[in-house]
Amino acid sequence: MTFINENFLKLSETYLFVEIGRRVEAYCKTHPEAAIVRCGIGDVTEPLPDACIKAMHKAVDEMAARETFRGYGPEAGYEFLRHAIAEGDFRQRGIEIADDEIFISDGSKCDCANFLDILGAGNRILMPDPVYPVYADTNIMAGNAISFSQATAENGFVPAPPDAPADLIYLCFPNNPTGAVATKEQLAAWVAYAHRHDAIILFDAAYESFVRTPDLPKSIYEIPDALDCAVEMRSFSKSGGFTGLRCGYCVVPKAVKGRKQSGGEKSLHALWSRRQSTKFNGVAYIVQRAAEALYSDEGRAQVAALTGFYLENARLLADALTRAGRSFVGGVDAPYLWVKGNKGMTSWDMFAHLLEQAGIVATPGSGFGAKGEGYFRLSAFNIRENIEEACRRLAAISLEKL
Ligand code: MLT
Repeated sequence: MTFINENFLKLSETYLFVEIGRRVEAYCKTHPEAAIVRCGIGDVTEPLPDACIKAMHKAVDEMAARETFRGYGPEAGYEFLRHAIAEGDFRQRGIEIADDEIFISDGSKCDCANFLDILGAGNRILMPDPVYPVYADTNIMAGNAISFSQATAENGFVPAPPDAPADLIYLCFPNNPTGAVATKEQLAAWVAYAHRHDAIILFDAAYESFVRTPDLPKSIYEIPDALDCAVEMRSFSKSGGFTGLRCGYCVVPKAVKGRKQSGGEKSLHALWSRRQSTKFNGVAYIVQRAAEALYSDEGRAQVAALTGFYLENARLLADALTRAGRSFVGGVDAPYLWVKGNKGMTSWDMFAHLLEQAGIVATPGSGFGAKGEGYFRLSAFNIRENIEEACRRLAAISLEKL
């Protein structure tokens, strides 16, 4: 009989958001009358920007004629999109990223998971707690030992680098799940730590389009020394509403190197390119044209409006929590609010409580790690009517002193 990867046996039985879906579905079955407001998984609700729709219609027409039809595309993405990204997200902001250092993908979740393919066994992994569960789960699958830096109310949910060394560091800002955003000084401390220990940072910037406060960094590469120690992942899921379309990208600067067991070093760019061209077929041409459209003047304005809409949702939720006397962080420059639960309740107790008493789906903080225990996360991705309803219900349950 074929052997299995026993590391999978060390995982919780279901992925966090699958487990939430399962519990909500079970609740709805027994309470068909319940009008649920879903503030759990961060899934977008607003239609795609008009610029994308137009670009996709045009791309569909191209696919309908032999002269303009496209078959297999380049695995790392079409040059038109790699160029638009390198230019629009980096070079125009004074960051020297070459077009071929951009790898188009079907999203950051896959990129941060797949990146482990090109890294060896035995790396010392460091990530915050609480953390986006994909970083932890994929390292467990790979059999890696993980250390956690604790993100707490005391450090504003932005942990400082520890004294102990690490080889691979995961950072995510604006943060999922807490909504905390690191300053340039805080990121610079992590970049200095990475250099001190010859480590690599995997920087997840999936929520950068929500940053509005001037001077807060949107990219790790705003720290000049990061170009030889950091890989950055970005996504169009939340900026352009692409959760269903699927498109993101990974920046792998050629200067980022890893160590060979036999001595010497190797550029991760070459390895990632090899991995992607072998295991990935690229993103659909039509979808890449939609992503390119986000970089037009029209597209940029529409992204600003879309993310502004969710930020206003976050502000409404924050106001409601404040009025309800709840302690929370996030919701500014980020679409998530990280809320302290009721005294004596675990995160899953609080999840059940919010569902049963207020019909609100939240994400239990402990699903993001031990330090998330006692918290819950609210997502601002929803239609306005639902957010307003969630605000009313949050006010009502606070009166009942739940
Ligand atoms: C979340 O709710 O944490 C995200 O939507 C999950 C994801 O992007 O994979």
